[in-house]
Amino acid sequence: MRTLLVTGGAGFIGANFIHYWVKHHSDDRIINLDALTYAGNPDNVAGLEGNTNYRFAHGSIDDAGLVRQLLDNEGVDTVVNFAAESHVDRSITGPEDFMQTNIHGTFTLLEAARAAWQGNDEHCRFLHVSTDEVYGSLGPDDAPFTEQTPFAPNSPYSASKAASDHLVRAWFHTYGLPVLTTNCSNNYGPYQFPEKLIPLVIINALEGKPLPVYGDGKNIRDWLYVEDHCSGIDTVLSQGIPGETYNIGGCNEWTNIDIVKRVCQTLDELRPGYAPRENLITYVKDRPGHDRRYAIDSGKLMQRLGWAPEHRFEDGIVKTVEWYLENRDWVERARSGEYRNYYRQQYNVD
Ligand code: NAD
Ligand code: DAU
Repeated sequence: MRTLLVTGGAGFIGANFIHYWVKHHSDDRIINLDALTYAGNPDNVAGLEGNTNYRFAHGSIDDAGLVRQLLDNEGVDTVVNFAAESHVDRSITGPEDFMQTNIHGTFTLLEAARAAWQGNDEHCRFLHVSTDEVYGSLGPDDAPFTEQTPFAPNSPYSASKAASDHLVRAWFHTYGLPVLTTNCSNNYGPYQFPEKLIPLVIINALEGKPLPVYGDGKNIRDWLYVEDHCSGIDTVLSQGIPGETYNIGGCNEWTNIDIVKRVCQTLDELRPGYAPRENLITYVKDRPGHDRRYAIDSGKLMQRLGWAPEHRFEDGIVKTVEWYLENRDWVERARSGEYRNYYRQQYNVD
C-alpha cells in the first residue's frame, strides 16, 4: 500500500491519473494537492470526495510549510508531480507564473521530500511529470527524441519544464533522492481544459465558430491518449530505476491541420446535418517560436519496462469527441468559471 501526494490532480492529466489510480490501486491513499488555478477544476475529481482513501488539499506546491505538513502528517511515500503552468501560449503572454510554479514550485517539492524522507527513502519515489518539449524542435527527417537527446527548449513553458527536470536530476545526484522523470508527448482525452487544440476544435466546431490553425498548420505533434500516459507513469513508478528518465509517446505523429480535419470528420459522423465542419478552419497568425515537430521514441520504456499504449488513435479520438459531446455541462462550467464560484462557496476559500 502506498500513500501518494499527487500534485495538480484537478488538472487534465492529474485528474485522469487519479481516476486511473483509484481504479487500478484501490487500496492506496491519495492526497491531491492543487492550487486550483484557471486550469484546475474540482469537477474533474468530483465523485471521489466520498472515497475514504482520497483527500483534496487546496494549496500550492510552492508553499513549503503546507507541502511538508502533508508529507509528514499523511505519511506520503510517493510524490507524483503534475502541478504546472502548462499552456505554451499563456507562457508567451505571461511567463512569470511558469517560472514560479514550474521551477520554484518543483524546487520546493524536492526540498520538502528530501527533508521529510531524510534518507529513509528506499521505498519512496518522487516522480516528476515532464514533457517532450524540453528537447526542442525536430526537422522532418530527424529521428524521434530519445532520453539522450540534448535539451533545447524554445518557449518560456518548455524552458521552465527543462529547468525543473534539471533540478530533479540534481536532487538525485547530489542528495540521492529517489527521483524518476517522465517526458511525454501531447495528450488528448477527457477533462482537457477547453483552450488546448483538440477540445478547442471540438467545442468551436460544435458551435459553428472558426477553428484557428496557427501558421501553415503543418506543425507536427505526437498524440497519446491520456490513459496510456497514466499507465506509463504507473509502470515507471513500479519498475523505473531511480535517477533515470523515461520517454512516453504514442508513435502517432499528426500535422495540426490533419488533426483538426479528423476532429471535424468525427463530429460530422457523430452529429450529422451540418455543412462539413472543415469549412470552419481559419488560418491565423503563428505562435512565436512555434516548434515545428515533436516525435517521441518510447523504446526504453517499452523494451526495458514492458509498457505499451493500449489505445489506437482512431478509437481514442472518437472516445474523446464523444466525451465532450456528453459533457456539455462540464464544458460550460469550465469555460464560465462557475466551478470556481462553486469551489469558493463549497470550501469557503478565496
Ligand atoms: P493542466 O494545466 O490541465 O493542469 C495543471 C494543474 O496544476 C491544474 O489543476 C492547476 O490548478 C495545478 N497547479 C498549477 N499551479 C499549481 C501550483 N503552484 N500548486 C499546485 N497546483 C498547481 O496541465 P496538464 O495538461 O494536466 O499537465 C500536467 C503535467 O503534465 C504538467 O506538468 C505538464 O507539463 C505535463 N505534460 C502535459 C502534457 C499535455 O499534453 N497536456 C504532455 C506532457 C507533459
Ligand atoms: O508536447 C507536450 C505538450 O503538449 C505539453 O507539454 C503541454 O503542456 C501541452 O499544452 C501541449 O503543448 P502544445 O503547445 O503542443 O499544445 P496545444 O494544444 O496548445 O497546441 C497543439 C498544437 O496546435 C501546437 O502546434 C499549436 C497548435 N494550435 C494550438 C491552438 C490552441 C493551433 O494551431 N491552434 C490553436 O488554437
